[in-house]
Amino acid sequence: MALLPAAMRSILRARSTRVRRAARDLQAGGGGGGSSLLRRWQSSLPQLDHVDRSDDEIDWDNLGFGLTPTDYMYVMRSSPEDLGAFPRGELCRYGNIELSPSSGVLNYAQGLFEGMKAYRRPGRAGYTLFRPEENARRMQFGAERMCMPAPSVDQFVSAVKETVLANRRVPPQGKGGLYLRPLLMGSGPILGLAPAPEYTFLIYAAPVGNYFKEGLAPINLVVDDEFHRAMPGSTGGVKTIANYAPVLKAQMDAKSKGFTDVLYLDSVHKQYLEEVSSCNVFIVKGGVVATPATKGTILPGITRKSVIELARDRGYNYKVEERLVSIDDLIDADEVFCTGTAVVVAPVSTVTNKGRRHEFRTGPDTMSQELYTTLTSIQMGLAEDNKGWTVAVD
Ligand code: COI
Repeated sequence: MALLPAAMRSILRARSTRVRRAARDLQAGGGGGGSSLLRRWQSSLPQLDHVDRSDDEIDWDNLGFGLTPTDYMYVMRSSPEDLGAFPRGELCRYGNIELSPSSGVLNYAQGLFEGMKAYRRPGRAGYTLFRPEENARRMQFGAERMCMPAPSVDQFVSAVKETVLANRRVPPQGKGGLYLRPLLMGSGPILGLAPAPEYTFLIYAAPVGNYFKEGLAPINLVVDDEFHRAMPGSTGGVKTIANYAPVLKAQMDAKSKGFTDVLYLDSVHKQYLEEVSSCNVFIVKGGVVATPATKGTILPGITRKSVIELARDRGYNYKVEERLVSIDDLIDADEVFCTGTAVVVAPVSTVTNKGRRHEFRTGPDTMSQELYTTLTSIQMGLAEDNKGWTVAVD
């Protein structure tokens, strides 16, 4: 709530007692306004049934990153009378949602998303999530930028856990993870340009394997100096849906020429690395790892943050620099790799810039391989988590 604009905060403070009472009524299914809200809420959701899809139809060995639907999703709404709070959420069958044609998200891209993964714990029941509270906080940060209310960290993390437990289609160890996609959108109708009157928080899930078609093999990037992903003062530093469709053209062009993805440069000087369409980028030269500093145009990735911390750890003791990284720095690097929830840690074997192809080290003795192994061992529960990054889901 502290991240909402000041005017909205003071309205919320003045009326918070009413909200708490309404939320309590709603949760208790109590009388007055609460029960009518509850009825409206319940009638707007598809109801749970108990027919889970069979796991037999999933080819766990060839998951990739295609959409394999699961059975349930989590939905929670914030209406005008909730004054920025999300009073109550619920699991319902995975399926299409109803949206006003004039919803804020459809008309003005008032929306954010997150990406996270749950893994099966080895040798016992249950699953692990990786730093889910970081995703919750990033959504709150983005919501403030996009003039939206956001769920609390506790609401977000509980909703994610409920979604994992309801679906249980987490791939077997070593085959992938259950990808969770929290969305926050202006679902209420609005015609003039303004924040929507109602918001929907939704989480759906899909079992996934490797993001790139290359699998775990090194990828080939191309630098695009025509298209830019973000500009100073805009929304490159938050995970708004509006950051992603604009890269599709550059990405499609790159794929049609045989590249895996696009590496974007800054829009002002056109010489500093920003990020790849779906992930952050790192370079390695000698014992020094460098990655573009997050100053508003680059997404503050949770994998990025974790990799920086792991590289700086005593065991590795690499120097890590968050700074401007120029295209010349990259050309001169020994190694290049990308990080992201979907991508994990992906080694880059070539980067093509202005028609010239530059090659980088990949393989068993590289820093990216070392970081990949350390990170995924923690995420999958194969190594002790001394950092308290994993959260159990039982
Ligand atoms: C993720 O890594 O989870 C993302 O949100 C990137 C997306 C484009 C797949």
